[in-house]
Amino acid sequence: MAWLKTLRSVLRFRGVELDAVERRLARVANLEDLRRLARKRLPRGIFDYIDGGAEDELSLERNVARFSELEFRPRVLRDVSGIDPQVTVLGKQQPLPLILAPTGFARIADPQGELAVARAAARAGLPYTLSTMGTRSIEEVAAASKSTGRDAPLWFQVYVWKDRGLVAELLERARDAGYDTIVITVDTAVLGRRERDVRRGFTLPPKAGLGTLVDGLLHPAWTWAFLRSEPIVFANVVGKNSEDGSDVVSLHEHMERQFTRALSWKDIDWFREHWEGPIVLKGIQCVADARQAREVGLDAIALSNHGGRQLDTSPAPIDLVAPVAEAVEGALEVYCDGGIRRGSDIVKAVALGATACMVGRAHFYALAAAGERGVEWALDFLDQGVRQSLALTGCSSMEEVHAGLVAWRVAREASTRKTPES
Ligand SMILES: Cc1cc2nc3c(=O)[nH]c(=O)nc-3n(C[C@H](O)[C@H](O)[C@H](O)COP(=O)(O)O)c2cc1C
Repeated sequence: MAWLKTLRSVLRFRGVELDAVERRLARVANLEDLRRLARKRLPRGIFDYIDGGAEDELSLERNVARFSELEFRPRVLRDVSGIDPQVTVLGKQQPLPLILAPTGFARIADPQGELAVARAAARAGLPYTLSTMGTRSIEEVAAASKSTGRDAPLWFQVYVWKDRGLVAELLERARDAGYDTIVITVDTAVLGRRERDVRRGFTLPPKAGLGTLVDGLLHPAWTWAFLRSEPIVFANVVGKNSEDGSDVVSLHEHMERQFTRALSWKDIDWFREHWEGPIVLKGIQCVADARQAREVGLDAIALSNHGGRQLDTSPAPIDLVAPVAEAVEGALEVYCDGGIRRGSDIVKAVALGATACMVGRAHFYALAAAGERGVEWALDFLDQGVRQSLALTGCSSMEEVHAGLVAWRVAREASTRKTPES
């Protein structure tokens, strides 16, 4: 029975996976797959809030697309049998040049919300940045991170409220809970016009209208989890602010009423008086502001357009890395925040002069797609991608990554294009 032997040699059945989350993840190959899963599992309004950007979403698109315009110039035969992507970020060694960016309202994706993301980050030994607009409190997140037994860095992101006393109180709580670093977000003088949210009348927490009811019925797993867990609130300001999320608000109105537009470079002194640790400015979008950040003695800047959610057609962060790194001459750390979807993107940003990269949607999609395991999967995927890119470009460590390892495609094509006469 030769045919039976042949058949047996080619048939391979996967074992039956009993865990639903693992079964889901078994079919995931990259972050785009996680995004598709998130889209399937979340009500449309919630998915669009996470996935969308401002106005025509040009910055959102370019943040990602510009990485594909950067080509590697790999070297071979360089003995890459030992790969170590460790770097030092704000004085602490970490396994990868990666920081989890702040993303508010994580509980709209999964009932564990920020706790799940903080635990996954801690297990990976990476800094997790809790947003001011978190749906889990400063103290809860610190406890969740520590429960992993890892001493991973915790960062706290600050939106500057009109009520400066409230900001001072949040900073004090962050310090007492063991956060290392604050990240001041400076690209939100007003809220960007996110037109997907405008169309859907998106509010926080999600309000129940006829549309959301139908949306909810079409996504029963999410709806059931949402209904069973305690109400979603802005956990850091519960009882301290008239708008703590216990009533439905539109994000636009909330920001207008609560956050100051008057923030300026002068306020950095106030932060220095109220925070002893490192300070990162997130939302720098040009070389001049990067220079100013250096002059006022900041520790780091995140080149960012808020993941394309604020000023549309602001530059893609990866385009700013080289000119900014050159201008600040290593006096402060430079993070590239926006559009990172693969480990190779991280290596490219480091090659151009970034100390590390920040990711937002990568962990938000993952959380929505598969909860804490999803976030773990996404961080592992980025780690493997970095290691693979290092090996395939002939580098054993991040110190070996340098500007000659990448080239912009357009610039290269222009310089090698022959004129008609030649
Ligand atoms: C759903 C969502 C919520 C966000 N919330 C915040 C926030 O509360 N504070 C903040 O500084 N940035 C916030 N951001 C921006 C991220 O910190 C980060 O800049 C952006 O996601 C990076 O782009 P990427 O999503 O392409 O990685 C948010 C982004 C998303 C997608």
